[in-house]
Amino acid sequence: MKKLEEYVISIPDFPEPGIIFRDITSILQDPDGLKLAIDSLLEMVKDVDFDVVVGAESRGFIFGTPVAYAMGKAFVPARKPGKLPRETVSMEYALEYGTGTIELHRDSIKPGQKVVIIDDLIATGGTVEAIAKLVEELGGEVVKICFVMELAGLKGRDKLQKYDVDSAIIYEGK
Ligand code: PRP
Ligand code: MG
Repeated sequence: MKKLEEYVISIPDFPEPGIIFRDITSILQDPDGLKLAIDSLLEMVKDVDFDVVVGAESRGFIFGTPVAYAMGKAFVPARKPGKLPRETVSMEYALEYGTGTIELHRDSIKPGQKVVIIDDLIATGGTVEAIAKLVEELGGEVVKICFVMELAGLKGRDKLQKYDVDSAIIYEGK
């Protein structure tokens, strides 16, 4: 049986020179890879007491929803700006060049709810740090953060030191 990391195709110099792109579509397009990825995330949360999965647009939706479904929990999408139709809370975060913004519906997390955040990848950690702050602004508690892949060389975990963070595959470089 293949390991999860064996399903990841790494593309050098994409989207720009010097970057190695770790492609999740090569996991997803194989039924065994897809199952292995979701099962790895389920293993991370199986003993965690939580109410809601928050998934980061867009690749975090792919992995977050099946985990919420399998665990019998709710799913909340953290979306890019201007996509959510009702009242939102919003957080800006730093990108390599410029800034990004992420939003949650104001009523999506109730005070006291326990939240697991799921995304495909942690690079600088900026995206998920912003989502965690939004969850907390709404009165939620971030009890776990799960990634399929981590680029450890970018030290994203440093931003998430106060949280319980788990990654299925850790790449030492960037
Ligand atoms: C990528 C990736 C993570 C984030 C990681 O998303 O899917 O969400 O970047 O980077 P960070 O740790 O430095 O914040 P991207 O914003 O490219 O969009 P996508 O998921 O819609 O493809
Ligand atoms: Mg993303």
